[in-house]
Amino acid sequence: MYVLGIETSCDETAASIVKDGRCVLSNVVSSSLKEHKKYGGVVPEIASRMHLESITGVVNCAIKEAKVKLKNINLVSVTCGPGLAGSLLVGISFAKSISLALRVSLLGVNHLHSHIYANFLNTQRLSFPFVALIVSGGHTTLFYVKDFDKIDVLGATCDDACGEAFDKVAKILGLGYPGGPLIERLAKSGNPKMQFSCSNTKQLLDFSFSGIKTAVLYYIKKQSTVHSQLVRDIAASFQGAVIDTLIKKSLLACRLKKTNRLVIGGGVAANNRLRERLYGEAEKSGLNIYFPHPKLCMDNAAMVAGLGYQLFKKGYKSGLDLNIDLCAH
Ligand code: KG4
Ligand code: ZN
Repeated sequence: MYVLGIETSCDETAASIVKDGRCVLSNVVSSSLKEHKKYGGVVPEIASRMHLESITGVVNCAIKEAKVKLKNINLVSVTCGPGLAGSLLVGISFAKSISLALRVSLLGVNHLHSHIYANFLNTQRLSFPFVALIVSGGHTTLFYVKDFDKIDVLGATCDDACGEAFDKVAKILGLGYPGGPLIERLAKSGNPKMQFSCSNTKQLLDFSFSGIKTAVLYYIKKQSTVHSQLVRDIAASFQGAVIDTLIKKSLLACRLKKTNRLVIGGGVAANNRLRERLYGEAEKSGLNIYFPHPKLCMDNAAMVAGLGYQLFKKGYKSGLDLNIDLCAH
């Protein structure tokens, strides 16, 4: 079964063809990132206009690269939320039109659940149940996953998302956007000697990143000069504190749910320091850790096609009244 996946929840216009839910035949991503760089974050209006310009070419490219014929596509799976309303609308409208024209089924899927699904693509073998941590620019959520359609939220951020905190701290440090990869690079030659930490939350499995961002801001304001080694040290200290909290809460969730499988996903999962530290923890505590391929951590449509396949097999389908779902979590 060939599924066409479409993802437009933020600034990436993505399309992919996945065979039988696992085999990625094409995975095309066009990002409007450079249009947003000068604003230091994604501008929703620009993102949705760029989706409009790119979507036809991106979908055509995915079909061509996969070497499938339009008539062989069995399902169109599309992200319906959470995300930016204007961006989601472009993907959903396009998916509806193409499913109507091809007379094939349509299915709307949850963006965060599709980030979890990235771990099932290609060679990974993973069984239920497990704890999943999704860390992206818009979300930081711990899930307990019993099946593709049985996913409970264990905890989430009370303020900024983890990736958002990386982006904002990078802005404070004058590094540019997106901040995650820039902070990771500088942190490599930094000394994590500053005592930054993430705030406590009422619920043990929730997260808070807004306080640490402000702590970095005040720290910088107090300095008379900000030389490059100081920036590296701040990057390392901030990254270390964020990773500490991600690991602490994920391990606690695994203990509470009595599972030894921990799955990571979302843009921040591309962070190599997070990977190293988690693998280290895994060795100590007998956990099995799963990360998607770095290419599949960031927003992509292969994860949308794959999850669509699994849900369709379970009998899920959407009608042409499919709408954006901003309340999805
Ligand atoms: O999942 P994603 O592509 O888009 C959303 O759904 O938000 O995640 C993008 C986020 C950005 O905030 C970016 O700074 C962060 O992921 N990110 C990273 C790294 N690569 C991307 N954060 C930390 N370390 C990285 N290497
Ligand atoms: Zn995402």
